[in-house]
Amino acid sequence: MKLHSLITLSLAVSVLVTPALAQKSGKDVYGKTCAVCHATGIAGAPKYGNAGDWSPRIAGGTGRLYGSALKGTPKGMPAKGGNPSYSDAEVKAAVDYMLAAVKTAAKPTATPPQNPVAKEEPKPEPKVATSTPKVDKAEPTPTAAAAMAEAVPVGDVNAFNRLLKPLGKRNPPPPEDGIHDPANDGTHALLPPLTAYAGLPKSLAGNRVNWVEAIGTKKINPRWDRTDPKAEPVVMDLNIVREVKGSMPDVVYPHKQHTEWLDCSNCHPAIFVPQKGANAISMAAILLGEKCGVCHGKVAFPVSECRLCHSKKKDLARPAQAAASVAK
Ligand code: HEC
Ligand code: HEC
Ligand code: HEC
Ligand code: HEC
Repeated sequence: MKLHSLITLSLAVSVLVTPALAQKSGKDVYGKTCAVCHATGIAGAPKYGNAGDWSPRIAGGTGRLYGSALKGTPKGMPAKGGNPSYSDAEVKAAVDYMLAAVKTAAKPTATPPQNPVAKEEPKPEPKVATSTPKVDKAEPTPTAAAAMAEAVPVGDVNAFNRLLKPLGKRNPPPPEDGIHDPANDGTHALLPPLTAYAGLPKSLAGNRVNWVEAIGTKKINPRWDRTDPKAEPVVMDLNIVREVKGSMPDVVYPHKQHTEWLDCSNCHPAIFVPQKGANAISMAAILLGEKCGVCHGKVAFPVSECRLCHSKKKDLARPAQAAASVAK
């Protein structure tokens, strides 16, 4: 069984690498954090167990992959999967765990040269098998790797998520942003964002402006009603805590920061039934642009900012840690 061998493999690896430390195994870290995106390949993440998704990336070397996992990438891989409490070794173990899945899956097709299907396959796997006949060396040669990268192009990821765009492509002038009509003279009269945002409080994500602070410190004073300059928002200060299973901190949804900008009807009832706990919200839905993702990643800070939403430490954290130290 494939699943069985994966589990035994990861157990063997973690026993070898982590003699007695309370380090989380690659499998644990993967299951708790990385799987949110990598299990289904959401937001362009290379999918767990999918050799096609991984081979062009593996071609650049395992060291490069460790680097991406630890520091994140501009195309949406958050540093340490968004959980800075993991040690570097734990994140690397999770990368190894994901790589093991594609290597074990790839072996059966790459090993037997007598495989009759291999001839008709346009994939470059057979080349790899002939140039490196030893089975234990799964790393492809540079030329085969280049061929693979060509054969399996990495798609334009996160097309739906414009606040996760690579740095250089953020905040283009209005005629080039794909939102405003370049044929309309009015578009050319608009201030380019980089000019308009000068002097506003900065953030490290999205369009680089901390909008919550901008409105809180009165750096901006958006008009609530287009026609009535005196209209004021109905600000409601009500936090809703959503408990999250697993190791991520719980989510605090703040009505205050939302109702300073948004009318109740922006969310109720079309996106959320106004009743605590009545809505099924998941990270998968958010990443697909539903629920909180209707706005976050499009017009509000992107999903890479895990801590802004997952802001409440679990009450259980202490007893759980105590139990863990007793166990060892
Ligand atoms: C919020 C979604 C998300 C989470 C959570 C996440 N990833 Fe990723 N990951 C991505 C995306 C999107 C990419 C593709 C980004 C790219 O091509 O630069 C990616 C790419 C990668 C890559 C390949 C990077 C490269 O340079 O080719 C590795 C390795 C990786 N992730 C490891 C991890 C590990 C380990 C975890 C858990 C600790 C994790 N990821 C959690 C979204 C995620
Ligand atoms: C940005 C989206 C958004 C806006 C705008 C918004 N809400 Fe909510 N509201 C939510 C979410 C999310 C919940 C929690 C739903 C859940 O837990 O399933 C919620 C819950 C509620 C609840 C249930 C509270 C409880 O304890 O059961 C009420 C009442 C409510 N909202 C009223 C309002 C009113 C009044 C406004 C406008 C002044 C408003 N909301 C604006 C997203 C919003
Ligand atoms: C209708 C659009 C919309 C929806 C839906 C929405 N948000 Fe927001 N959210 C915003 C905007 C706009 C801001 C303020 C601008 C920003 O921070 O980017 C904001 C700000 C926040 C903040 C404040 C961060 C800070 O710096 O204080 C949190 C936390 C947050 N959202 C969480 C959530 C969660 C959790 C959900 C889903 C339950 C959700 N939001 C759904 C539009 C939305
Ligand atoms: C815009 C707010 C927001 C951001 C940003 C965010 N989350 Fe979530 N997350 C949520 C909400 C809401 C839930 C659902 C909680 C519940 O079950 O009610 C959730 C649930 C989860 C869960 C539980 C399993 C699931 O899919 O429901 C995990 C794990 C998780 N988030 C990880 C992350 C990671 C890792 C990041 C950063 C890469 C992140 N989240 C960023 C709002 C957010």
